[in-house]
Amino acid sequence: MSFSVPKKLQTEINRTIKKYPEKRSASLMLLHAVQEEFGYVSNEAIEWIADKLELQPINVYELVTFYPMFRQAPAGKHVLKVCRTLSCALGGAKTLHGHLCNKLGLDRNAHGLQTSKDGQFSVEYVECLASCGTAPVMMCDDDFFEGVSLEKADEILEANQ
Ligand code: FES
Repeated sequence: MSFSVPKKLQTEINRTIKKYPEKRSASLMLLHAVQEEFGYVSNEAIEWIADKLELQPINVYELVTFYPMFRQAPAGKHVLKVCRTLSCALGGAKTLHGHLCNKLGLDRNAHGLQTSKDGQFSVEYVECLASCGTAPVMMCDDDFFEGVSLEKADEILEANQ
């Protein structure tokens, strides 16, 4: 296995595992930590986590494919998440997503993660971001934006170029 985890992250992961009565219970925490470090969860990372938790790789793989917040391929430098659940759908999420895709040369009809050719931005639909009263809502990395007009979307892209 060629996958290598930095010492600092290894220490953090070992500490996390000890917090749980059963190693397996730390699975999601480890997946988040690995994705945070590498930007996605590779097959090698899945095998590494499985080994760490004394599980079979399929036990970790099924979590990665079940939860939409885990990525199996690298994303762009900035990740734009557009909420598509009911309030945001009614509030213009499709128009907002389409606008971002047009600006970045991406397919406005795709729902999964897409990355611009220059690798600067990835765009994806996500489910409710828990601010339904201020639709449409989106995130750029860890920054949260409410009531996003197309002009505001342009400003967000501009600020992260
Ligand atoms: S529906 Fe978009 S934040 Fe809840």
